[in-house]
Amino acid sequence: MKTIYKEIKVLGIETSCDDTGVAILSTKYDLNNPNNSICRVLSERVSSQVNLHSKYGGVVPELASREHLKALLPLTKEVFAEAKLSLKDIDAIGVTTGPGLSGALLTGTSFACGLSEATLCPLIPVNHLEGHVLSVLLENNSLMDKKCEFPFLTLLISGGHTQLIEVTEVGSYKVLGQTIDDAAGETFDKTALLLDLGYPGGPAISELALRGNKYKFRFPKPLCNRDTLDFSFSGLKTAVLTQTKKNDLNDPDTKKNIASSLEFTISEILITKCRLALKNTGLKRIALVGGVASNRLIRASFVALSKELGVEVFVPSKKLCTDNGTMIAWAATQKLLSGFIPVKTENIEISPRWSIENKYQN
Ligand code: KG4
Ligand code: ZN
Repeated sequence: MKTIYKEIKVLGIETSCDDTGVAILSTKYDLNNPNNSICRVLSERVSSQVNLHSKYGGVVPELASREHLKALLPLTKEVFAEAKLSLKDIDAIGVTTGPGLSGALLTGTSFACGLSEATLCPLIPVNHLEGHVLSVLLENNSLMDKKCEFPFLTLLISGGHTQLIEVTEVGSYKVLGQTIDDAAGETFDKTALLLDLGYPGGPAISELALRGNKYKFRFPKPLCNRDTLDFSFSGLKTAVLTQTKKNDLNDPDTKKNIASSLEFTISEILITKCRLALKNTGLKRIALVGGVASNRLIRASFVALSKELGVEVFVPSKKLCTDNGTMIAWAATQKLLSGFIPVKTENIEISPRWSIENKYQN
């Protein structure tokens, strides 16, 4: 059958936490086979609020909403200018409506509703976690140098989430396990605060860990001996707290060794659970997504696992791992191509606790 390409351009807006992301994505897809598509990011911008929140040791929701409000319009003007497009050239607007901070989600969603009303451009509500999950289908990945394909297992590791998700197709997600307390990223962040390394802590811990001894402290690996795909990190955090009290933090080696042992322990917990999930599901592809997936040791551990088990490991590029508008534009595109009906602005609602398993309801 002859290949007939059609192009759609989608604006993506992300404001679920402390990054304002705006992007325009062009997708050329085969009318006879929408899975056969070629994507191009026409322009993208992310404005990080890290410096603002770092002095408080975490994200302050009120401040986050205010910063999103300030950033949205200038970033949107910039992406349109760079793409040499105007609003009338856009076929759909994708916006994160959950999960996340209520005020932050409301800011981005109201902004997207305004644009949609003014231009009659269809509006697609996107689940932030779905944005992360589908990001491995967008570009050739940093570990495999090719795009992932369905079905696959996803390990979603971010500041707010740690989940194992079985992904069968767009819109079909089954949460196989998740953290029962803290998220993996939160464990990095909280340890960093104990070690006085600032916020967010993942990159700082990872940097320090390079020069430490990962075997120095034997931290617990909660739930690792149990036949469950759930995670738990709070015991690990308590064990780190105990060691920071027992040892001299002014000794430069102590911090390095705690950082290194913590990173190693988290990596081992993630590997143990993924090994079990791959065994239980029989899946042969695994994708690591979310901010923690940019961790050097965790990526290296998964490369080793892939060789050992003969599975393929996919990790998006670093800028797609952390929060961004491109993944939201891409998820909206995928939803459109798989038949999702855009939602009227008066029916759009934010869902701060939206599970990836649940379809959008209004
Ligand atoms: O996905 P993300 O940008 O935002 C959320 O949706 O949470 O993830 C942010 C999290 C933070 O907890 C941060 O400390 C962690 O990702 N992170 C890292 C690294 N880079 C970011 N954790 C460990 N190692 C890293 N290199
Ligand atoms: Zn995220």
